[in-house]
Amino acid sequence: MTIPQRVFSGIQPSGVPTLGNYLGAIRNWVALQDRHECLFCIVDLHAVTVFQPPAQLIAQTREMAAALLACGLSPEKCVLFVQSHVPAHAQLGWLFNCIARIGWLNRMTQFKDKAGKDREAASAGLYVYPNLMAADILLYHATLVPVGDDQRQHLELANDIAQKFNHDYGVQFFPPIQPLIQGVAARVMSLRDGTKKMSKSDPSDQSRINLNDDNDAIAFKIRRAKTDPEPLPDDPAGLEGRPEARNLVGIMAAITDDLPENVLRAHGGKGFGAFKEELTEALVAHLSPIRERMNRLLRDPAALDAALHVGAEKAEALALPILARTMEIMGFLPRR
Ligand code: TYM
Repeated sequence: MTIPQRVFSGIQPSGVPTLGNYLGAIRNWVALQDRHECLFCIVDLHAVTVFQPPAQLIAQTREMAAALLACGLSPEKCVLFVQSHVPAHAQLGWLFNCIARIGWLNRMTQFKDKAGKDREAASAGLYVYPNLMAADILLYHATLVPVGDDQRQHLELANDIAQKFNHDYGVQFFPPIQPLIQGVAARVMSLRDGTKKMSKSDPSDQSRINLNDDNDAIAFKIRRAKTDPEPLPDDPAGLEGRPEARNLVGIMAAITDDLPENVLRAHGGKGFGAFKEELTEALVAHLSPIRERMNRLLRDPAALDAALHVGAEKAEALALPILARTMEIMGFLPRR
């Protein structure tokens, strides 16, 4: 049965998507487009909260579009577009800068992680990043947001903004947002450090599998992935205190659509050498067709741009009435 909920999610074009993005988010998006009205957004305005060399930003935005289509998003089934093509995102983002409280933003752990020790030197955009994220979602009155575990706190803030807006203006305008955080792969960790998340912007390329890595690169990175000297345990309890082992088992489970306990039943007692070979095989079987489709799509940038143009038109048609109504509620004099 189809539940009429509108889905929204976004991804930054700050690098090629990783296996973490794929298993934690993109794969779920592909499934959702068959069941719901879905909008998926390449969030370039979020990407520039950290400096992006201009030529690289253009290239990475197209690469992201190609990767998402190669993973199975279909412009016939969902709205795929670039955030800066729909200026209403930035406009609602500004309005939300005036709703969100500084105290709320001060609690955001991602800001603390990304800004690092020298917080004073971070861009103001990085600080108000979650407000723009709230705008992305609420601009469409989307209610279902499929993301990885790292976005949970940002979605709580989006709900706080929606509630405060409704309360301050005495309306029931913005609906509550429900995060959709699914499965064993909601948190895929770095291959070099099982306590850090796998990230497209990690300085170490060996920490992640990129969706355009060739088969040799996948094999090399898995072979080099950090592990411990013990063999694999027979059940999940044996993964306690072994973050790297837990991560590789989680990846195997996710990529083969199975449960960690079944993976351990099949591989318990084996050393990591043999397990890593099978993991590589499973990853290559799943990812090489995606890479080939992605490379094919990148050969025709005009077709990618045209698909993104159609997406932006559809998104904007949904966004403009909601932005207009928001401004009316707030008391802005309409332009006649
Ligand atoms: P971004 O670009 O960092 O990541 C895109 C999606 O991938 C998920 N993800 C992961 N999942 C599991 N394991 C990992 N190691 C991993 N790394 C990333 C993220 O949780 C995310 O779902 N702020 C967002 C983009 C955004 C957004 C939005 C999302 C902007 N506006 C509105 C939802 C709704 C971000 O930086 O995603």
